[in-house]
Amino acid sequence: MSAAVTVIDHPLVQHKLTQLRRRETPDWEFRRHVREIGMLIAYEVMRDLPLEKVEIHTPLTRMMAPQLAGRRVCFISVLRAGNGLLDGMLEILPSARVGHIGLYRDPTTLEAVEYYCKFPEDIAERDIIVLDPMLATGHSAAAAVERVKESGGQSIKYACVLSAPQGIETLGEAHPDVPIFTCAIDSHLNDHGYIMPGLGDAGDRLFGTK
Ligand code: URA
Repeated sequence: MSAAVTVIDHPLVQHKLTQLRRRETPDWEFRRHVREIGMLIAYEVMRDLPLEKVEIHTPLTRMMAPQLAGRRVCFISVLRAGNGLLDGMLEILPSARVGHIGLYRDPTTLEAVEYYCKFPEDIAERDIIVLDPMLATGHSAAAAVERVKESGGQSIKYACVLSAPQGIETLGEAHPDVPIFTCAIDSHLNDHGYIMPGLGDAGDRLFGTK
């Protein structure tokens, strides 16, 4: 069984993704586009949040109006590039709790190695959205989701900007119950595990570290 994959093909998302891909896009603009894509992904990923009707008073009359109900949301940012998407998500849903997980890719094996993890205590009662702009090999994505499950997380989605077929396959095989949201699926990974044609190193471009 493989995971459900949603490609967010909204024109605004696709336009901003093209700006991210351009090598001449400066880091401040790159960061802004990732934040805005985070906001747009948020709409799609949280489309199925339950609503309840509550009584409110408009300036003119009373009415029953919908508001978010039930389970609350937790964003898990995969450090460090996940923080770029997190900013946009939090603008849409400021009441969400936030967890962080730090994973680096072993340059030889490309396997994920954990160096930091801090999740909200009530993670088991929340709808969890794991954030990382790049789903490349899928190793760190699978490891992050595994850690969330070990901590009691049950309702989990994965949101990224760009993905490679290999990453979707690896994450989908490890966690077929976790739906994947991506803005595009590129063709392949290069020998260093970078998505091609891709957008380069998302962390470096977000934070201007190279
Ligand atoms: N991480 C990145 O930042 N870029 C890639 O292409 C792959 C992983």
